[in-house]
Amino acid sequence: MLPFQGINNSYSIALFGNPVKHSLSPVIHENFSKEIKIKYHYNIFLCNELNFFRKVTKFFNQGGLGCNITVPFKKKSFCIPSKYTKRVKVSHSINTLVKREDNSILGDNTDGIGLIYDLKRLAFLKKNTCVLLLGAGGAACSIIFHLLKEKCCIFILNRTVSKSIELVKRFKVFGKIFIFSDFLYHKNFDIIINSTSCGLYGSIPLFPENLVLPSTKCYDLSYSKTLSLTPFLKFCKHLGSKNISDGFGMLVAQAAYSCYLWFNILPDINKNIFNFKHSK
Ligand code: ATR
Repeated sequence: MLPFQGINNSYSIALFGNPVKHSLSPVIHENFSKEIKIKYHYNIFLCNELNFFRKVTKFFNQGGLGCNITVPFKKKSFCIPSKYTKRVKVSHSINTLVKREDNSILGDNTDGIGLIYDLKRLAFLKKNTCVLLLGAGGAACSIIFHLLKEKCCIFILNRTVSKSIELVKRFKVFGKIFIFSDFLYHKNFDIIINSTSCGLYGSIPLFPENLVLPSTKCYDLSYSKTLSLTPFLKFCKHLGSKNISDGFGMLVAQAAYSCYLWFNILPDINKNIFNFKHSK
């Protein structure tokens, strides 16, 4: 049994972030709600640094059951819950909150399992996959632990080197993670993952172009609302990659795992990815 129901016999779920207008999550959750036969409203709250905590607190005080947190508040949200899943304790980054029966708030992050689900769906992972990870912000923190659990070997390249160093120090107990350096300019990477927020501003992070070979898989954690390619993927395709994907599958998968946290039912991820792609 769930702890309570909100207004109109439907649960209240929300998304907090900035920007949020572009988000496909409301449509994804509308479909999940129909599929799992549980009524819930997925409201969007545009926040700023000053009102973020106030808005989240008000939401839960007014009967909200759970929410998603998106950029730029994933790290900041670490101080909200009283309980954490192991993956949050490791990543220090939250994308899902749920109010539990004892009124405590549990913080989790479903981005990492969402990404792994999608990389497996695309057959982008193999034994000892060598990953070049662009970016060292909140999005990177959410996925590193999961990539290491899949026995990937990660090299981080970030504009601000000190952040890469901090992440390598934090995650090296879990597996092979290193800083990208000059002598790797000719290394053969299996996947290049873009976790930077550049796409939001229509730009591309700087990285050595020669690392993109026809066989290099290029994955962008961001996605495009239309069928057009993200700037990063457009660039990788131009450089010759034959295997590119945006993070749309990851978006659906992380949303499904959030849904599972709120309602204990996992929607059919593959079916939802397929349906969305064919309705675009
Ligand atoms: P998120 O939660 O989306 O990861 P974030 O924590 O602010 O957001 O991190 C954004 C990431 O994108 C960082 O790695 C950032 O690089 P810096 O650490 O140097 O700031 C990266 N980023 C943002 N704009 C960028 C740009 N124009 N070029 C390269 N990297 C950029």
